Amino acid sequence: MTHSEVATRIFHVRDGEAHQFTCTDGDSLLRAALRAGVPATYECNSGGCGSCKFTLTEGEVRQVQDAPAGLTDRDRRKGRLLACQSVPQSDCTVSLLIDPVDPFHAGLSLPARRVGEVVAERMLTHDLRELSLALDADFLPGQYAMLRRPGGEERAYSMANTPGTGVWQFHIKRVPGGAESGAFVDEIALGDAIEVDGPYGHAHLKATGRDVVCIAGGSGLAPMVSIARGLAAAADASERRLDFFYGGRAPRDLCAGEFVTEVADRLAEITLVDVVSDEAPDDWDGARGFVHEAVAAAGLTDLVDRDIYVAGPPPMTDAVTRLLVRELKVPVDQIHYDRFF
Ligand SMILES: Cc1cc2nc3c(=O)[nH]c(=O)nc-3n(C[C@H](O)[C@H](O)[C@H](O)COP(=O)(O)OP(=O)(O)OC[C@H]3O[C@@H](n4cnc5c(N)ncnc54)[C@H](O)[C@@H]3O)c2cc1C
Ligand code: FES
Repeated sequence: MTHSEVATRIFHVRDGEAHQFTCTDGDSLLRAALRAGVPATYECNSGGCGSCKFTLTEGEVRQVQDAPAGLTDRDRRKGRLLACQSVPQSDCTVSLLIDPVDPFHAGLSLPARRVGEVVAERMLTHDLRELSLALDADFLPGQYAMLRRPGGEERAYSMANTPGTGVWQFHIKRVPGGAESGAFVDEIALGDAIEVDGPYGHAHLKATGRDVVCIAGGSGLAPMVSIARGLAAAADASERRLDFFYGGRAPRDLCAGEFVTEVADRLAEITLVDVVSDEAPDDWDGARGFVHEAVAAAGLTDLVDRDIYVAGPPPMTDAVTRLLVRELKVPVDQIHYDRFF
């Protein structure tokens, strides 16, 4: 099947309203919908979260992954599929969930495929590398993109900087045994061309005027740095407080200090809590334990009036959101998270 054949196909979405859009270049159903401005519900774009489940009424789709974690056995029995893992092979009619209108979507760019050249790089820790790609396109602080290195598979990585600089900056952590992250950390060189599809994601900075909490675990640093930088660049930055929590296994994993220092002068108040879960030397004077425990121990009394941004591996983000919603009674619409499946 050629791309031009696929490009002529038309898809219908039933959400009470009918939408119709075309799918090009082997795009998943989700990406085709989003590129057409249809706000299909999603989170990770990677098959992990299950929020893009849909039902196929007519037509044929190819599956990217055989058994994506985002589908339960019950979903499979009921014939549900993931829009981010389904590539249409014919005209289709589908029932997709559609997101409610986000009042903070002003300035949101539709995702598009581009190529960015690596123009700067440095190691932030022993296993976390900052890569800057030359790209003249907009995104919102906290969003992510799908990156593909030459000969590699696509993975999601969040931008760490703010838009409008001609560069999209990423912080990529080497996952032991991982197919792609190790290559991004150890092999990609200055001048290499990386395919970038984005921006994606809803956990972007919301201009609500509230004070902010950023909570990052491990590889979740980048979007929290982007949120902090976006907050510091806002017109009302000098009236805003930011509390930043960053958890790693050992002190050598932690590197948020330079980013917190960078934005400190522009904000009314800022704190950083570094948390170590595994090995800490006796003279470690930061917090010990998991990052959600550090949030609870900080005793911030105004959390119900804050916007709270969270990013990192699912066990960490789940523990944090459970704490915030169940125990600290933070309204769910003030919690914005990306789980790094
Ligand atoms: C929305 C989103 C944003 C993301 N942003 C970032 C980012 O800014 N920086 C970043 O470094 N990563 C980020 N990730 C994670 C990234 O997409 C990859 O999953 C990660 O780099 C591992 O890819 P891999 O090919 O090396 O591992 P794979 O070959 O895909 O997986 C290998 C093994 O590692 C496990 N694994 C996968 N990811 C993780 C993880 N994060 N921590 C621990 N174990 C893991 C898998 O379960 C598997 O068992 C993000 C993910 C999502 C969904
Ligand atoms: S968006 Fe499809 S599984 Fe997460």
